[in-house]
Order: sequence, then C-alpha cells, then structure tokens
Amino acid sequence: MVEHVAIRGRGIGKSFTVGKVSTRVIDELSVDVASGELTLLSGPSGCGKSTLLAILSGLERPDAGSVEALGEQVWLLDRKALQRFRLHHIGFVFQGFNLFPALNSVEQVELPLSYLGLGAEETRRRAWAALDEVGLAHRRHMRPAELSGGEKQRVAIARALAKRPQLLFADEPTSALDSVSGQTVIDILHRAARVHGTMVLCASHDPRLIAHADRVLRMEDGRVLADEHHPHPPMGAHTTS
Ligand SMILES: Nc1ncnc2c1ncn2[C@@H]1O[C@H](COP(=O)(O)OP(=O)(O)O)[C@@H](O)[C@H]1O
Ligand SMILES: [Mg+2]
Repeated sequence: MVEHVAIRGRGIGKSFTVGKVSTRVIDELSVDVASGELTLLSGPSGCGKSTLLAILSGLERPDAGSVEALGEQVWLLDRKALQRFRLHHIGFVFQGFNLFPALNSVEQVELPLSYLGLGAEETRRRAWAALDEVGLAHRRHMRPAELSGGEKQRVAIARALAKRPQLLFADEPTSALDSVSGQTVIDILHRAARVHGTMVLCASHDPRLIAHADRVLRMEDGRVLADEHHPHPPMGAHTTS
C-alpha cells in the first residue's frame, strides 16, 4: 500500500518557561502522519501530546523545526494565510466539546461553514449530512443541555467533518466519556479516515483506544519512543484466515 503523507514534522522543539524554570516539552521530534488513517498519539499525561498536536495543527509555534502540511510550510505562512489554511483544511475536536449552549445541533455545525462562504442551502445540506454521518440526525434540533456527553462530542465531530477537512485533529476526544460512548466516537473518527481519506491524528492517554487505531505513536518526555502499525482489514471486507 502506498501511503500518502499529509503532515511531515521535522526536528520539532518546544520549551515552556515558567518563572525561571524552562522545561523542554518537545524534543527534536520528527514524524510523518498519513492520510486515510487513524493515528493515535498515546503516552502518559504531561508527555507533550497536546503540545505536539497544537504545533502540527498550526495553533502553537514551535521553537525549532518545521511542519509541512499538505505541501505547505505551515510555520512560514503569515498570520492571515495560516488562519485561512486552518479554516479550509483543518478540523479540531477537543475534550470539552466547545459547543455553544444556545445553539441546536444543526446551528453548531453550520456556524463554521458560514466562514467558508458557502450558500445557505449548501451549508444546511452539509450540516445535515454531517449529523447523519455521526448518527445524530434525530438530535438535529436539540441544544447541548438536552444531549448526553457522547452525543455532544458527536456534534463536535460533525462540526469538524462538515468542513470536509483533509486534516482532522482530536485531543483526548473520549476522555470525558463512558466506554460505550468513547467507542462510538473512536469508530466515527476511524470511519472518517477510511471513507474520506482524512488524516486523523488523535491524542489520548486512554489505552482502550490503542486497539482501534491504524497506527500508534507512543510518546514519552517529548519524544516518540515507538511507532506501531496495526493492519486492519479494509472496511466491509470479510476476513479470511
Ligand atoms: N502553556 C504552557 N505553559 C507552561 N507549561 C506548559 C504549557 N503547556 C503545556 N505545558 C507543560 O508541558 C508539558 C506537556 O504538556 P501537554 O502537551 O499538555 O502534555 P499531554 O497532552 O501529553 O498531557 C506538561 O508538563 C505541561 O505542564
Ligand atoms: Mg493533553
């Protein structure tokens, strides 16, 4: 299988200084992440997963190294070009859902689409399709307070998917969820990678997710210590032994 590299990180370094103490959080890290796969960034709390995700997704500037995403040198773009790049190509799902209390599910998903300059009809069509994809068509008109945690996270994923981003990042997307909801969320992310060819990079310290990833990058102390591929049969294929 020929893999398509969506992101190439090279020699990434990042330190944070608190008071007089400087801590190296990402240490000369290089990594390629492929399209069409769910890549899991695993490792203990504090090892640098969120920081790496933020650097690779154009949210946090590294002190050293480079990030090439979809052929663009992300950290050489000016602020406006970077904002545009993120708007068009990147979806981000957070642990805390980040939904607006006053909006129903369709409105949550439509909001970022309005910045893409799509017409009202296309916006509505995409929002409905995205909610359908995460199995929440029937929750379309409900507000966050009326949804379970798992449903809220699925709305947040629908919001990210509706943009049809080539790069989808998820930071601890299952951490606030019970195991059944967490499983559903990871299945949806996995399916998005398979069906749309999206690069999905998910950071999690939840070891239950490891079995569901195509690839697991194990991080510790700001470095990738192991890189494991888990071959899965193609979706819908019958396994023969
Ligand atoms: N903005 C910040 N200022 C200072 N320290 C930070 C900041 N962000 C993260 N850190 C520190 O960097 C380390 C890695 O954090 P993080 O990337 O959030 O790890 P993880 O997501 O693996 O739990 C931790 O020690 C954390 O305290
Ligand atoms: Mg984190």
